[in-house]
Amino acid sequence: MRYNVDFLVIGSGIAGLSYALKVADHGKVCILTKTNASEGSTKYAQGGIAAVMYDDDSFDKHIQDTLIAGDGICNREVVEMTIREAPERIKELVQYGVNFDKDRGGRFDLHREGGHSEFRILHHKDNTGAEIERGLLQAVADHPNIELKENQFAIDLITQHHLGQRVTKHTPGIECYGAYALNADTHEIDTYLAKVTLLATGGMGNVYTTTTTPIISTGDGVAMVHRARGVLKDMEFVQFHPTSLYNPSEKPAFLITEALRGAGAILKDYNGNEFMGKYDPRQSLAPRDIVARAIDNEMKIAGVDHLYLDARHIDKRELINGFPTIYAKCLECGINITKDMIPIRPAAHYQCGGIEVNMAGESSIKNLYAAGECSCTGLHGGNRLASNSLLEAVVYAHNAAMAAIEKVPSIGYCQAVPDWNAEGMVLNEEMVLITQTKKELQEIMSNYVGIVRSDLRLQRAFDRLNLIFRETEDLYNRSVLTEELSELRNLIACAYLITKMARARRENRGLHYSIDLI
Ligand code: FAD
Ligand code: SIN
Repeated sequence: MRYNVDFLVIGSGIAGLSYALKVADHGKVCILTKTNASEGSTKYAQGGIAAVMYDDDSFDKHIQDTLIAGDGICNREVVEMTIREAPERIKELVQYGVNFDKDRGGRFDLHREGGHSEFRILHHKDNTGAEIERGLLQAVADHPNIELKENQFAIDLITQHHLGQRVTKHTPGIECYGAYALNADTHEIDTYLAKVTLLATGGMGNVYTTTTTPIISTGDGVAMVHRARGVLKDMEFVQFHPTSLYNPSEKPAFLITEALRGAGAILKDYNGNEFMGKYDPRQSLAPRDIVARAIDNEMKIAGVDHLYLDARHIDKRELINGFPTIYAKCLECGINITKDMIPIRPAAHYQCGGIEVNMAGESSIKNLYAAGECSCTGLHGGNRLASNSLLEAVVYAHNAAMAAIEKVPSIGYCQAVPDWNAEGMVLNEEMVLITQTKKELQEIMSNYVGIVRSDLRLQRAFDRLNLIFRETEDLYNRSVLTEELSELRNLIACAYLITKMARARRENRGLHYSIDLI
């Protein structure tokens, strides 16, 4: 099938949905999402969204906290813009129908997380993301100009390459004409021609064995831009969340929000002793990179595969009412957090790098925008401050929408684009070729390109990734395309980019830490 749409949106998390709502009064919007509409990292966000809402906090403090966490390589102009825009974007979320908790006096009830000098995290209990996703999906459903299509897997961006021209990263003026997408119901690959396209495909946590991100987080948008020869940035900065619930058989790993440490929970070693004082004066509330490395080190010293988070001293009612999802989940696993310490370990959580965009959300490819976790705006630098990503997603969805609305009247459809050609492809009947390679990839990345790296580990990862890249391209060139094969190719592309950029960074900064650079 062929479709013409004014605004093509790939992804239905906070970035894609909030952008769609903004552009919808200016043309026909089509949102493609690869499984069901609500599935994505947004739904699992617990802690909340950071914003300065009252005079007892200040923009300057939030700006400073963001710059400090980013370890000196944030783009200051971007940080200032994002933080100053935050209250306006929060008001819009509330207008769309999103609820944030309030105190008895009617003020937003604010939490605090690692790296924040003030209580400034708006939240909805400990399930903020689910509430945001619910509110936005409802608003989207109510808008007559937006069509949301589930089970549509975007495979590749359409550029001059598909018109038979040679496109390299040095080709000037690469343009995006839309995307090809695999329809999971018909098994056909459809052609979506668009005036402008927004990538809002989220993160890539599944490059690693243990991740808090859902299984859909396979770096598809980043990999598509890589194949289309667009510019990517800062991929070496992979954020590991210090406290995922240690429950080895569970995928994705369940998150224990940093807000629990904000409420007083304390990290303890395998023997139940506090240890963070050895690493940072801010102890359990130090920025995430420092805490994750400290936990990794303590686990390695003791030869154990988890440590503990102790919340037993916190008022029982505050624990149960403030963190109902965590309380219920832990109980399900036989842990009563009011009486037992919570076994935790770090897990891949967030990709700070991605598709490079300017302040209007424009990528290096003409008519292609990106917002949310797949983008790299310069806000996070070397390490994202907690709860700044939902904020970044709404701010950049807004900026991209404003820019796209202005441009769209002057753009036409590129009707010369051919449909996808699957001639001569055969059905790959050996799923093991995909599943085993995915496992290998995740082990390579977890062991060699994880929280602590070295030149030798990165070299080994690079050599092994090369081999699985060649094997998988060979499979791709002769197989009928499936979601699983496409995701595997995307994960390999992301792993390659992370490793390549990690090798190129010759300093320990933010989330990139190598024992050879100490
Ligand atoms: P997502 O919400 O991940 O959505 C991606 C969308 O893209 C999905 O709809 C998916 O189906 C679609 N998609 C992907 N590939 C394709 C494809 N090929 N074709 C079609 N569709 C595709 N951040 C905070 O600021 N505060 C928090 O408290 C917080 N807590 C978190 C807790 C957890 C457990 C996790 C995992 C993350 C948390 N984060 C938090 C990070 C934050 O949730 C994410 O960065 C943010 O939600 C990303 O939003 P997004 O719209 O970019 O992507
Ligand atoms: C958390 O709730 O700890 C996650 C917050 C975030 O990732 O920003």
